[in-house]
Amino acid sequence: MTFQLLDGRQAAAHAADVQALHAEVYAGLPDARYEPDARFADRFGVQLRQPGFVLAEARSGGYLVGCAAGMPLRPSTSWWRDLTAPLPEQDTTEYPGRTFALAELLVRASWRRQGIGRSLHDLILGSRREERATLVVPPAAIAAQGAFAHWGWRRVARTRSYGTDAPASDVLVAALPMNR
Ligand SMILES: CC(C)(COP(=O)(O)OP(=O)(O)OC[C@H]1O[C@@H](n2cnc3c(N)ncnc32)[C@H](O)[C@@H]1OP(=O)(O)O)[C@@H](O)C(=O)NCCC(=O)NCCS
Repeated sequence: MTFQLLDGRQAAAHAADVQALHAEVYAGLPDARYEPDARFADRFGVQLRQPGFVLAEARSGGYLVGCAAGMPLRPSTSWWRDLTAPLPEQDTTEYPGRTFALAELLVRASWRRQGIGRSLHDLILGSRREERATLVVPPAAIAAQGAFAHWGWRRVARTRSYGTDAPASDVLVAALPMNR
């Protein structure tokens, strides 16, 4: 297994691999309504052009088996809007260096429970200099919920992540650096 970190320009050349990985993983989730493949492709294409975007890949013989992706939140971010209960302003004010958003963590089903997810998580977050990290995870993603609780994340809010019929999701936060 080889692990590597890519910036947005490098990741653009791997977008088709990431989209195929995303499609396979989300086809296997119990509630896959919250993001159609085409919307993921559009979103990923926008995200990888954002300043500070980073992609962590796990490959076996060149085959993409898992990835993590994220970017710093911008001061104008909408990340903390549309919560079921508003958070205090001091928790949602963004400034350069405050928050890294972990937008994706995906491992193909047949490669799970071998530590690949954790390695990707640690690789992408270990490179960060922000004060904290945040992510959104649907309650139906049982393995991810278990993993993030195990890895020191805590739920701070609930939101509706994609579209009006999407299930409510949990917003998690972890302090950086992660000391383990
Ligand atoms: C979450 C995910 C990336 C974990 O990948 P992985 O390679 O299996 O991760 P690891 O092997 O490093 O760790 C697995 C951990 O997940 C948790 N986990 C896995 N399956 C679980 C389950 N069915 N119930 C509860 N916890 C589970 C455990 O904490 C486990 O740690 P352990 O093996 O030490 O007990 C993978 O399950 C996945 O791709 N899920 C679908 C996509 C997704 O929901 N991504 C997150 C959205 S933000």
